[in-house]
Amino acid sequence: MSSSSYAPLSMDDLVITAAGLKRRFGALVAVDGVDLAVERGECFGLLGPNGAGKTSITRMVQAVLPRTEGALTVLGLDPGRQGAEIRARIGVVPQGDNLDPDLSAQMNLQIYARFFGAGAREAEIRARELLEFARLSDRSEDRPAQLSGGMRRRIILARAMVNRSELLLLDEPTTALDPQARHQVWTWLKGLKEDGLSLLLTTHDMDEAERLCDRLLVLDQGRVIAEGRPPDLIRRYAKEQVIEVDAGTHWEVPEAVQCETHGGTTYVYFERAQLGLLTGALTAVGLPYRVRSANLEDVFLRLTGRDLRT
Ligand SMILES: Nc1ncnc2c1ncn2[C@@H]1O[C@H](COP(=O)(O)OP(=O)(O)OP(=O)(O)O)[C@@H](O)[C@H]1O
Ligand SMILES: [Mg+2]
Repeated sequence: MSSSSYAPLSMDDLVITAAGLKRRFGALVAVDGVDLAVERGECFGLLGPNGAGKTSITRMVQAVLPRTEGALTVLGLDPGRQGAEIRARIGVVPQGDNLDPDLSAQMNLQIYARFFGAGAREAEIRARELLEFARLSDRSEDRPAQLSGGMRRRIILARAMVNRSELLLLDEPTTALDPQARHQVWTWLKGLKEDGLSLLLTTHDMDEAERLCDRLLVLDQGRVIAEGRPPDLIRRYAKEQVIEVDAGTHWEVPEAVQCETHGGTTYVYFERAQLGLLTGALTAVGLPYRVRSANLEDVFLRLTGRDLRT
């Protein structure tokens, strides 16, 4: 990825740039001065609790939600003035289900292909290919209401590929998918990235973010609270390993290790070299514990707290 080199990036290398991006809804500031730069060919993640502003950012990039303030470019274009051109060159998996309820699966894809300029025959072939890709060829005549939530999601994913776009906006693409379908989508997204597509991915699935994202932002209440590559964020915020101790209040955690207690469980973040010291102390007081590697979920919870967002 070019971020590891020292050559300055030109605008051609950046598929999305935002500086001081803001969006207000009345008195609420949903996006509060966000800076970001997505490089061509990378998967860039947007993480954050419910209401953090992820969908609002995605919709401004998609040029369907005007920004209130700040600068934004998408494929070098201005969403305020060149929205149609941007939308023709990107693929979008929105957070909600926006398939046409009156059209069959096949026609939902076919109409989209026609909309983006394919001829009648070409649109039909393209829609069939994409249904096959979504492994739903046998349901081509079903309307959305006759399909399961996960099947509808797969059609929306296939639809995002209709115009062979160079940038994909994916707002929680794998929500509601079963494990097999989720793994299929991950393989698919990795393949698209290898083909040079750029991805802006919102997810609440930290495993997904860790597998797919080259870099990511953590947002909270419209502001960026952390940014970086997943392994760097894990190292910075959650060290190397985590011990989980139930009934942690009975245990005096040694000084100089970071820990948090939530819901009756203490999470101790530490470097591998401290393992013997910590497990020895736990064994001495007879407390059961679990040791595991630190992951992005730890980072997310440390940064945004463990309380449920309303
Ligand atoms: N059209 C709208 N009108 C008024 N408020 C809105 C509108 N769209 C979003 N908001 C508000 O903006 C804030 C950010 O919403 P947004 O949908 O961007 O969050 P999100 O990070 O995508 O959350 P989630 O993880 O739940 O999808 C929320 O407080 C939401 O209520
Ligand atoms: Mg959202």
